[in-house]
Amino acid sequence: MSGGGDSTEPPRPAPTVRIRPARPEDAAALVDLGASVGREEGDWLLNTNGWRTVAEERRYLRALKRYPHAAVFVAVADVELVGRLSLARDTHPSSYHVADLGLMISADHRRRGIGRALLEQAVAWAQNAGVRKLELHVFPWNEPATRLYEAFGFEREGLRREHYRRESGYVDAILMAYQLPPSTS
Ligand SMILES: CC(C)(COP(=O)(O)OP(=O)(O)OC[C@H]1O[C@@H](n2cnc3c(N)ncnc32)[C@H](O)[C@@H]1OP(=O)(O)O)[C@@H](O)C(=O)NCCC(=O)NCCS
Repeated sequence: MSGGGDSTEPPRPAPTVRIRPARPEDAAALVDLGASVGREEGDWLLNTNGWRTVAEERRYLRALKRYPHAAVFVAVADVELVGRLSLARDTHPSSYHVADLGLMISADHRRRGIGRALLEQAVAWAQNAGVRKLELHVFPWNEPATRLYEAFGFEREGLRREHYRRESGYVDAILMAYQLPPSTS
């Protein structure tokens, strides 16, 4: 039946993972992904009780088509949507070179390099948009994410004490940032 070394079944090929901009039709799958990651015991996300509604998500993804300062990319394994990367540029003229990012991968598809691939996509988007710095907040207990970010080249810029209010009370967040290499063009 499953997985033993003596199995005569040929190994199933790893699914092909593709990264592409999110489309309005992805709204329901993105809401499901946010809700299921948000429910995990690890308490990784700010939103534990769901994401936007499907209609709100669809409207947001539609609006992004005409708005170059934010983006959502998805990772698709075969036909299943398994990862999300969100980017949004600061609107203040003094920090216009900075964009904030959010990332999540479905629990069944972790440790396959998808998070890293989406961060590479974030850097490509930033280069194209003239963004020089990517930043994010991560909870101090989120070791998988901090390891990924540090391995990728993000640095800790500080600890923001009691920065977020959650059901359990106020919690700290680590501020991390990645400086893009200077453009050669
Ligand atoms: C954090 C998260 C995005 C990582 O995604 P992923 O696709 O599993 O990451 P990758 O497979 O690309 O990992 C790349 C590297 O990051 C590090 N890493 C990732 N997960 C790790 C873990 N659980 N423990 C230790 N290191 C880890 C490793 O260095 C890994 O390289 P390796 O597998 O060759 O050792 C994913 O665990 C996730 O979605 N978690 C829940 C949501 C979340 O925390 N989002 C971030 C909020 S700030």
